[in-house]
Amino acid sequence: MNKQASETSSAQQAVDAAIVSRRSIRAFLPTPVAQEDIARILEVAARAPSGANMQPWKVYVLSGAARQRLSRRILDAYETPKAPDAPARTASYTYYPRQWTAPFIERRRKIGLDLYQLLGLERGDTAGMAAQHGRNFQFFDAPVGLIFTIERVLEQGSWLDYGMFLQNIMLAARARGLDTCPQAAFIHYHDIIRDELGVPASEMVVCGMALGYADPAKVENRLSTEREPLAGFVKFIAT
Ligand SMILES: Cc1cc2nc3c(=O)[nH]c(=O)nc-3n(C[C@H](O)[C@H](O)[C@H](O)COP(=O)(O)O)c2cc1C
Repeated sequence: MNKQASETSSAQQAVDAAIVSRRSIRAFLPTPVAQEDIARILEVAARAPSGANMQPWKVYVLSGAARQRLSRRILDAYETPKAPDAPARTASYTYYPRQWTAPFIERRRKIGLDLYQLLGLERGDTAGMAAQHGRNFQFFDAPVGLIFTIERVLEQGSWLDYGMFLQNIMLAARARGLDTCPQAAFIHYHDIIRDELGVPASEMVVCGMALGYADPAKVENRLSTEREPLAGFVKFIAT
């Protein structure tokens, strides 16, 4: 193999490995992540393309006491029983479809059931499921919690750009042996996040993300998710 061909093949392997080895990790080791590594990951990720190079992303990086404080405040709100007539929490935006239809509803059910089965939670164990959901707000014990915001004036196109930035973070993390879990769960607590982190009114919360080293001993990290085969979502059109 000539030099150029071998460089191409190792670049391909490295990129594919980062993409394929990324999984949502839901239990982390306490091992800290160096601030310079976080900074470099974010710097690399910000090479993501964006319409007119608008770069719509803003990131709040939480660790140590700041991470604990936000987690505590959200968990307090999450765990406080609501009065029956209390209004439901409003999210910063609507992430999931208002009406669940096939095939999405089945996929959502499957990942929920698979995760609960791994954790040994019985069907109908709503307290167990609620406790597992609550682990989101501790960033699944990751040493670093990221909160992402976007200026409200920006439109759908910028949200498309945002997804590329988020994926870049997750891949740059993989390249350094780090793991992540993107977390929409935080959008229901945008009011607490805003207050705790001093997020300006012009910004809205997009999601959170746990960042750290996966705990290989935890069963929830054994969850493997399926993907639709190519034939289900691709049409090759040549003639
Ligand atoms: C924007 C976004 C938000 C998500 N929010 C959550 C979340 O709040 N909690 C969680 O446990 N997983 C969350 N996930 C992870 C998905 O459940 C996961 O990506 C999906 O099941 C596929 O599994 P994989 O990431 O391991 O490939 C989120 C994923 C994305 C892309």
